This record gives sequence, structure tokens and C-alpha cells, in this order.
Amino acid sequence: MSRPKPPRKIIIDTDPGQDDAVAILLALASPEEIEVLGITAVAGNVPLALTEANARRVVELSGRPARVFAGCDRPMHRALVTAEHVHGKTGLDGADLPVPRLALEPQHGVDFIVETLMREPPGTVTLCPLGPLTNIATAFRRAPEIAARVQEIVLMGGAYFEVGNITPAAEFNIYVDPEAAEIVLKSGCRVVMVPLDATHKALTSRDWIARMRALETPVGRAVAGWTDFFERFDVAKYGSEGGPLHDPCVIAWLLAPGLFSGREINVEIETGSELTLGMTVADWWRVTDRPANALFLREVDRDGLFALLTERLARL
Ligand code: BDR
Ligand code: CA
Repeated sequence: MSRPKPPRKIIIDTDPGQDDAVAILLALASPEEIEVLGITAVAGNVPLALTEANARRVVELSGRPARVFAGCDRPMHRALVTAEHVHGKTGLDGADLPVPRLALEPQHGVDFIVETLMREPPGTVTLCPLGPLTNIATAFRRAPEIAARVQEIVLMGGAYFEVGNITPAAEFNIYVDPEAAEIVLKSGCRVVMVPLDATHKALTSRDWIARMRALETPVGRAVAGWTDFFERFDVAKYGSEGGPLHDPCVIAWLLAPGLFSGREINVEIETGSELTLGMTVADWWRVTDRPANALFLREVDRDGLFALLTERLARL
């Protein structure tokens, strides 16, 4: 009989955010496949003081153990742009969670990333950024030797066919810190990008939200409340049937990569132009000879994704 595979070690780098919160819950609900070494918060959807506290709230809600670290409070070279218009004032509007009792780890999130990658055997730690790439790029700048030790970076960010959501040309996570995104894409690490092209197909439905509520658990109620709140924005903006659960796609890809498909392509980041700042120039049609630096996902099996989410979230 073959031995079961050990769980994959990951660091979740995040700016919760309702969809970040669901991603964290999905990871913590899946200990057979995923070991969360730590959660590093970054400024993004809302300022750092809120994202780090929100990350602790979500961990506490899950009832599973995880350490939370605060990372960078602003992009590498720019002023912070936030998205309260999508996520609400708290970043987690839609469910009232108590002030977390879980203490914030004293170590800086960037130091945690560096130290973890230096301590764990090379090629055994996957980074899962769900927000602007500031923490990851700062870690790479501080200790360039860690890049070669990363197993993979699976990130939510960018767009090609969908182009942009925060500007006509750029997706939020990349737009907020384009210089950081450029460092990550040039790092030589294996990168899997989960762009809007995939996540705009990961739409919630009234049925699924009702199913979450019917779990009659604190997690079910919170997820239903968050997604109810969060989807309003996209339904009004795109006229879509539901709201996109962007960040859970990153964790779902680790659990069930067969739910997704994409292409190995070259992706460059626009950092110069004011008009198209943060654009992910994705060579989907391979019209250049620039070498591939990312697996760029385009399709997701929506039913399979939501079945996975339902099954896992019901465990918490
Ligand atoms: C990304 O931006 C944030 O608003 C979401 O949490 C997601 O990570 C989508 O553009
Ligand atoms: Ca996010």
C-alpha cells in the first residue's frame, strides 16, 4: 500500500477581503492536503491594521490553528489604493465577527516568509498571494536566495481577456503594487496566475449562498453574509448572476487542479504608463518569443469548484 502524500506546505499572503476569507477557510478545512505554515497580511483591500485583524478573525472563526503575521502597510513605491467600495469599510462587511482573541505574531510578515523559506527544505513551500504582491517582493528583495527555494507561487492577480477591474486596464492586486508584481514574475519561480479570466467564472449563485446559510454553523452563516454583501457590487457592475470568488480559486487549484485549465505563457507587467499601469501583458496567443514565466489559467469548472467549497466548508 502506498503511503499517503504529506500535506503541501503553504504560506497564505492576504488582504481580507470576503473572498480572501473564504480562501483561508478552504485551506484550513483541508489539513490532509494543505498545511498552512502561516498567514501574512498585507495592505490592499483595506489598510493593514484591518487586514491583519480580519485574518485573525477568520482563523478564529475556522476553529483551526494558524499563526497570523502583519507584513507591509504600503506598496513598495506608491501610495496605497484600497477597495472599500467592493469590500465595505471593514474589508469583511456582511458578517459581524467579534474582535479576535488570537494574538498577532510579533515577527514581521516579510521576516516570517524569509525565515520559513530558509528553514524548510528547498522546494517544499508554496506561496499563495491573494492580495498585492508587496510582502513577497519585499522578501525577494531582502533575501534573493529564497526565490530558488520556493516550490511554486500560486497567485490571484491579473487579467487578459477581462482586462481590468480597478482601471480599464488593470486588475486590483497587480495595480496596487505593479513593481512588486514585476519582481515576482521576474523571480524565476514557477508561477501559477489565477486571473480575472478564470475568477469571473467562479460566480456565486443564490442556491449556493442558501446552501451555506443552511449549514447553520458560524462558518456557513459568515460565508453566506459575506458573499451576499460582496456579490452586490459585481452584480450591479457586470450584470452577472453572482459575485466572483476570486481568491478561493488559488486554494482550489492546489486541491483540485483538474478544475482549471490554462496556458504556459509569458506575462509582463506595465509599470511605466499612467494609462495602463498594472496591466498584465499576457502573451496568450504566443505572438512574441518571450519565454513563458507563468501558467495563466483561463477556465474553471464552476460546479466542481462550488461542490468542493460546499464539502470543505461544511467540515468547519
Ligand atoms: C482581487 O482584488 C480583491 O478585491 C480581491 O480580494 C481579489 O484578491 C480581485 O481583483
Ligand atoms: Ca484578495
